[in-house]
Amino acid sequence: MDKIIIEGGKPLKGEVSISGSKNATLPILAATLLTDETCILRNVPKLLDTHTMIKLLKSLGKDIEWDKDKLIIMSAGKPNPVADYKLVSTMRGSICVLGPLLTKLGEARVSLPGGCVIGVRPVDLHIKGVEALGAKVDIEAGYIIARTKRLKGTRVYLGGASGPSVLGTANIMMAATLAEGETVIECAACEPEVEDLANFLNEMGARIKGQGSPRIIIQGVRKLHGADYKISPDRIEAGTFVLLAAMARSHFVIRDIDYHQLMALEDVLSKVGVHVEADKNMVRVKPAKVIKPVSITTYPFPGFPTDLQAQYMALMTLADGVSVIRDTVFPDRFMHIAELNRMGARIRREGGSAIIEGGHELCGAPVIASDLRASAALVMAGLVARGKTEIRRVYHLDRGYENIDKKLMALGASIKREKE
Ligand code: UD1
Repeated sequence: MDKIIIEGGKPLKGEVSISGSKNATLPILAATLLTDETCILRNVPKLLDTHTMIKLLKSLGKDIEWDKDKLIIMSAGKPNPVADYKLVSTMRGSICVLGPLLTKLGEARVSLPGGCVIGVRPVDLHIKGVEALGAKVDIEAGYIIARTKRLKGTRVYLGGASGPSVLGTANIMMAATLAEGETVIECAACEPEVEDLANFLNEMGARIKGQGSPRIIIQGVRKLHGADYKISPDRIEAGTFVLLAAMARSHFVIRDIDYHQLMALEDVLSKVGVHVEADKNMVRVKPAKVIKPVSITTYPFPGFPTDLQAQYMALMTLADGVSVIRDTVFPDRFMHIAELNRMGARIRREGGSAIIEGGHELCGAPVIASDLRASAALVMAGLVARGKTEIRRVYHLDRGYENIDKKLMALGASIKREKE
């Protein structure tokens, strides 16, 4: 396992380009199970999570190869409806093969993914959705076993206690593409990744309307065909670099970014005092004179994303006063508090909120990355801290940030990897 060593306090400046979206790529890869024809995907980020998804698809009967930056997905022999525990347990995103396998093969056996450090992460909405489409679902030996002759279109409400589900919406939307008749998903997730998936499915011949809104309407078709599609930029990676620029008080130019997808962040940063100038698919970040404390609450899109909560907390450790962060999407997603405190931050948790007393200098320390976005927050803190920070379990970072070391080095960071 690798650890990252950062020598903090180096001035950062320059340009960075954003990779393709991880959270769009995972369900789009799963969607290729809906056809026997070849699909080509462009701008797929080379990440641990995409490699895991590729492995899973190969185990389900696909043949996949890279041709420079294109990913080519072909069918190879008889498809297999069993998504094995070993692969699914390493990445929750694997749950989105349930809908495509079920609707295409009439059967899916998908391991229950289990929880993770950011919370319990149930899959009741995924099951509710496929049952509403007429599938018979059993849970046996840790697997969801779903069967159907052909799914039937229906109207289904997919809101849960914490709002809509991103991958739940993706799963049911994919399942409905080959169902008989019309499906209406109410309280659908509006995240841009759901929109990206729907656009890809429409390129494959699906008939989907309303993506990006809380009501998605799908007219089922008999068959989907291959497609050639370019994945959109990763808004969470983009937001992470914007927040890093703010934290390091640096001038960054960030390219291949769709800043419209980060309106909640833009709004908050304008109150924090950070100036972000957007122009087509690039932004310029200018540092704040004083980082003002601004409290936030995370919400489903278009609200402030939970996937930027840890990175925003890192920024607030430098603010001139107290701020409060509440996560309504994953109320237990606060593992980074203890590690940031090891670096000199003063943060305490009260129920579903974190209270950050900003303005205390960060200093380097050995820390452990607990999950993907927490790792990003620790890297950001390490880059601005005085002295050396050693981050262990950085494989979490490699799940979601393509070429992160190279990108940071190009901005002037002193960062290296060593075997633990
Ligand atoms: C996706 C993202 C993840 C992001 C999350 C929320 C991918 C691969 N992952 O995860 O990075 O943090 O959206 O934006 O795209 N819930 C239920 N029942 C369910 C499903 C979810 O109650 O069946 C709850 C969850 O516990 C959570 C909330 O709904 O409180 C949102 O979760 P969800 O949108 O499903 O997250 P994912 O799609 O797994």
